[in-house]
Amino acid sequence: MSATSRNPWWRGSVVYQIYPRSFAEGPPVSGAIADGVGDLRGIREHLDHVEWLGVDAIWLSPVFTSPMADFGYDVADYCDVDPVFGTLADLDDLVAACHARELKVLLDWVPNHTSTAHPWFVESRSSRTNAKADWYVWCDEPPNNWKASFPRGDDAWQWDEVRGQYYLRSFAVEQADLDWNNPDVEAAMLDTLRFWLDRGVDGFRMDVIHMIGKDLHQQDPDGAVARAWSHVPYNDVEVTHERLRRIRAVLDEYPGDRVAVGEVYLLDETAVARYYGDGDELHLNFNFSFLWAPASATELRARIRRTLDVLEPLGACPTWVLSNHDVPRHRGRHGGDERVARMMALMLLTLPGTPFLYQGEELGMIDADIPDDRVVDPGRRDGCRSPIPWTGDELHGWYAPTWLPFGVEAPGRNVDALRGDPGSILQLYHDVLHLRRRADDLVDGSFELVELEPADAVLAYRRGERWWVVLNLGDEPVALPETVEVAVATVPGMVGARIDAVPARTAVIASR
Ligand code: NOJ
Repeated sequence: MSATSRNPWWRGSVVYQIYPRSFAEGPPVSGAIADGVGDLRGIREHLDHVEWLGVDAIWLSPVFTSPMADFGYDVADYCDVDPVFGTLADLDDLVAACHARELKVLLDWVPNHTSTAHPWFVESRSSRTNAKADWYVWCDEPPNNWKASFPRGDDAWQWDEVRGQYYLRSFAVEQADLDWNNPDVEAAMLDTLRFWLDRGVDGFRMDVIHMIGKDLHQQDPDGAVARAWSHVPYNDVEVTHERLRRIRAVLDEYPGDRVAVGEVYLLDETAVARYYGDGDELHLNFNFSFLWAPASATELRARIRRTLDVLEPLGACPTWVLSNHDVPRHRGRHGGDERVARMMALMLLTLPGTPFLYQGEELGMIDADIPDDRVVDPGRRDGCRSPIPWTGDELHGWYAPTWLPFGVEAPGRNVDALRGDPGSILQLYHDVLHLRRRADDLVDGSFELVELEPADAVLAYRRGERWWVVLNLGDEPVALPETVEVAVATVPGMVGARIDAVPARTAVIASR
């Protein structure tokens, strides 16, 4: 069953995150000089890779007009494309090309803050009496102890000489928080959703969406402030939910199951579950507690169980993610051993719900080492954003030296090299994704965690009537309760074998 025939399509679909600056560069148009920054035409030209891989949807990190203080998460016009990525017509073309391949397209909506270069902010800061004076969060004295994210440890309240007041900026100085208490702000932001829904996009990943409601009188814990932790994971207030229901209503005005995926950066499964509402808020929410789990069978099992325990009674669809453009890539986080990355991939793609992949994880990439003089991100997240190496030559399929350096492994670990290797991690992702397409019960079937011995080394579960997924993270073989036939394995030579034990450091998907 393809994702498009599933109802709604996003349940059990696989979403592939594209970070456009680092995905691929289109050939320079006549007269232009290549800049080594990925763009929309580059994405379109590499859709073969995405389609071959077997995912169902792409999510594009922001491509809107932006001064790029936070590489697109500082939006200066929500209804246009930044020239670095192309034009509105390029985006329309990309959406059409994706739809022609039955790939859905999600954009990244950034509702908590705008760039300080956004005309709304420029007007707002110009006086205390202008028409947009109360579109942002201004004050004479900071009412709380909140810290900003960038740079870590800065106060979240920024003095503005022009207006002679502080404004709230939960992220960088160049990212001013909108005041969602103002109905005009909400109306304007809902219109930006309609702008893209009218153009046919299938939904949105919603950036730090839990931040659109705030209680300015809530103080963060002293310990967190002392450690320079930002306010973001502490922001969880009731008024946000009313706003989410109105956001949801906008998506519901449109046909075709448009989807809202919340980046709710709360590290507690129960807290995140509330953002699904009563089926009337966000359709999906990222599960960061799972992302941050160590590669330990005990921890993974506990977090999977907690997630399902809170979401199942709500009928809410879980999501699973291991890497994105904000965190060190998971292969590196788990020690660099590709065998572990392979096992994690098998798990990610067989848990019940909607998995999210981050470009490059299918190559088993780890973060690039970025020399100090090449660091450009205010949050120093450059390493996980290094460009995709498409080929083994010096430019790796790009048209100019890239905006960030490639990882050291790029000469051997690139799309060309791994596509030609039937034992590669890329082929493994492909094989699991294609198995999902053939085996509905691996996607929609029942889910049951099974404790095999030794429980601290083995994560095992059943899907539907026939499937077993077993990750043996330990150093000894693990006996299975029955003989099974291997459909996919993280090591070569096992497919089709009937086994009653899983070798050390190996994972399998197998059927009875
Ligand atoms: C979360 C995004 O994923 C991150 O890249 C960004 O810096 C912040 N939100 C602020 O928009």
